[in-house]
Order: sequence, then structure tokens, then C-alpha cells
Amino acid sequence: MTAKKDHLSALAGASLEKRIEELALFSDTPDCLTRLTLGPAHRRAADEVASWMREAGMSVHIDATGSVVGRYETGSPSKTLLVGSHIDTVRNAGRYDGAYGVIAAIAAVHTLNRNKRRLPFAIEVIAFADEEGVRFPSALSSSRAVAGSFDPACLDDRDAQGTSRGDALRTFGCDPSAIDQLARDPASILGYLELHIEQGPVLQAKNLACGAVTAINGATRGEIFLEGYAGHAGTLPMDMRRDALAAAAEIILKIEETARNTAGLVATVGRIETPGGAVNIVPGRVIMSLDLRSPDDISRAAALGSIRKQIADISVKRNIQARLDVSYDMAAAPCDTQLQNMIKTSMTCSGLPSFSLPSGAGHDGLSFRGRIPIGMIFIRCRDGVSHNPAEYSSPADMETGARLLHETILTLGGHP
Ligand code: GLV
Ligand code: MN
Ligand code: MN
Repeated sequence: MTAKKDHLSALAGASLEKRIEELALFSDTPDCLTRLTLGPAHRRAADEVASWMREAGMSVHIDATGSVVGRYETGSPSKTLLVGSHIDTVRNAGRYDGAYGVIAAIAAVHTLNRNKRRLPFAIEVIAFADEEGVRFPSALSSSRAVAGSFDPACLDDRDAQGTSRGDALRTFGCDPSAIDQLARDPASILGYLELHIEQGPVLQAKNLACGAVTAINGATRGEIFLEGYAGHAGTLPMDMRRDALAAAAEIILKIEETARNTAGLVATVGRIETPGGAVNIVPGRVIMSLDLRSPDDISRAAALGSIRKQIADISVKRNIQARLDVSYDMAAAPCDTQLQNMIKTSMTCSGLPSFSLPSGAGHDGLSFRGRIPIGMIFIRCRDGVSHNPAEYSSPADMETGARLLHETILTLGGHP
């Protein structure tokens, strides 16, 4: 690999890191990185990514969901390889989640173009618009559109300011009525490849730069609404209260216990609101989020059922009203065996130990489950930290991952 370095400078760690820094400048907030889907910073980032794609030799457009799509033609191919990740972020995000995969995919195509590599397929690099599911209750809408499973109901989802996804798309410059034309015929797609930071501690613990992903965990997300009765914190006796926040506390501990007692399941209440809450008011209302993940869809469904029952029991006991609305439900997605083998072969040919691991985090590949073969490569990130400004992958590991992606594309094209 090192011998090719001079010809592959787009793949150099320093080049990748420079772009990570440049993309991180596009933020909705000045003090930290927050680039929510379809917001103003996302719009500016999309234009920058589009210019990088053009420079790498691709023809570029922004699709009807806000994703930036760059196409690299190689003659008159019958099939297309999709390579992508996302450029939306969580609030107070790290700089590598999603961004790295997009930047490295552009670098890989740039390198193919510069070396005038002819492949028997076209490549489309996609910078997906909506992976995180933080601004609106649903997620993965942009990759689901490509997969042909876009749910038009998500156009009515609203953010905290009351803006609908449909309106946000129009402000972004997209035409939501054209989304149904984005669905690809699976017969025309060779596969979907994504390079991503691991977002977990396994590769660091194994002292490895990268690994091939075996499967992406399935996930359920939703909101829990609790309605008690607001009252005076000084006058309301404890045995006469219908405190929605105390009920929430009990429910959160039950959710945690459920996950602790279910192999492979992780469960998180990451956001909680007490509308109208104050120091001297017994809380009357709570809205909180729920996120459940597991490699096993059956145990995830069973855990959801058990959580529903616990919420019902606690709300009866505490005389409150409760509701759990599921806003997102994606089955676990196994990665394609052939693509996994190709990634592992590329690892071995590049002198890297062949290593596989599952993905606890969600990715756009989930949308392609059962439709398009999925292949994913993870690189090590420091201490497994992600969704946190401390997220970090070294330039050396980024270069190793990007070169592996480039090699895998060449292997797919019959040029190992
Ligand atoms: C996306 O990063 C997720 O797994 O929540
Ligand atoms: Mn991500
Ligand atoms: Mn993320």
C-alpha cells in the first residue's frame, strides 16, 4: 500500500483530516458542531461536498431528499455501485461520524479518476441527508428513498419549532413530490458500501485499525407521553400527587432493567421534557424519547412489549395517563457475505489482519436490507467515543480505511 502513496494523495491521512476540519466548520451553532438535517449549515455543507465531488471527476446533483449525489461514469456500465454515508449530525456532535465516510468515498473516486481506472460499473457517492433522526422523529428517510421504502407520512413530521419535513425540504431547495422517483431498481445496483468510524471500543481494544462489519443492529425509536396533574409544590400532599416526572423516573429505571436483563439489547432515554416545569410545580406532563437496539429483532420486539406493559402498570399505580408512540422501526441488517469476503480479502492483500465485528450504531445501510447487498468497513476511533465532540480517529487510521475502501472497489471491479 505504501508504495502507491504518491499516486493516491487524496487518500492520505492529512488530506482526509483537512476535509474533516473543513466540513466541521459548517455548523448551525458557533460553539460546537450541530448540523441538523435540512438546516442552513447542512445546506452550505452540501454545496461544499458537491464541489469536492465535481473536483473528483463526478457529475453532481442534490436529490429530492437533500442528499448530494455524485456519479462517476466508467464507459457504459450496466450496474452502479453506491458508496456513501451522511453529512447530517447530532447536536454537539463529533466531526467524523458520517463525514469521514463521505470524504473518504470522494477521495477513493478521486484516486480512481486520477489513475484513469476503468471499472465495469458506475459509482455513485451519496452524502445522505437524514441519518441521525435528531431533528425529526423519523430517520434514514434519504436512504429509504433510494431503497424504495420512503414513507410519505414522514413529510408531516415536525421539528421542535413546528416546521414540517416537507417545508424544510422545500426551504432546502428540494421538491418532495419527486421523492418517489429516487427508488433504484435493485437489479441495477451492485451493492452499497459504507466506510464509518466504529463508534465503539472494539477495534481499539484489539489494537486494529479497521474491521469488516457483519451486520447492523435493528432499532426502535419512539416517544413516551405521560400526563399526570400539575399542582402546587408546597401544598399538595405526597399521597395526593399525580406526578408525571416521578412516574417517568420509575419508567426509565424499568427500561434500563429490561435492557440489562436482555442479552444484546441496549435501551436509552436520551431526552426528557417537563413542559411548563418549574421549581414549585408538581410536574403534570412529561415527554421523553426511547431508543432500543439489538442484533436480534425478536428480542427487541419482546423488550418493546415488556416496556409497554411496565409503562401501563406504573401509570395505573400512579394514576397517570401514558402513551408510547413508535416513530421508527428498522430490522437488523446483515451485511452481504460476498462483500464481507471481498473487504476481508482487500484487508489481507493490504497486509491488515482480517477482522469482523457487528455494528451497534445505526447506518444508512439499514434501509437497503433485503434489497441491495450491504458492505461496511469500520475504522478505530479513540476510546470508542462518538456523538460527542471528543470523537477522534487518527489520520493514519483514516488513511488505512480509505485505502481499504479504494482497494475493495478495485477488487469489485476485477482489479485486486
Ligand atoms: C446514528 O448515529 C445512530 O446510530 O443513532
Ligand atoms: Mn453515522
Ligand atoms: Mn451518528
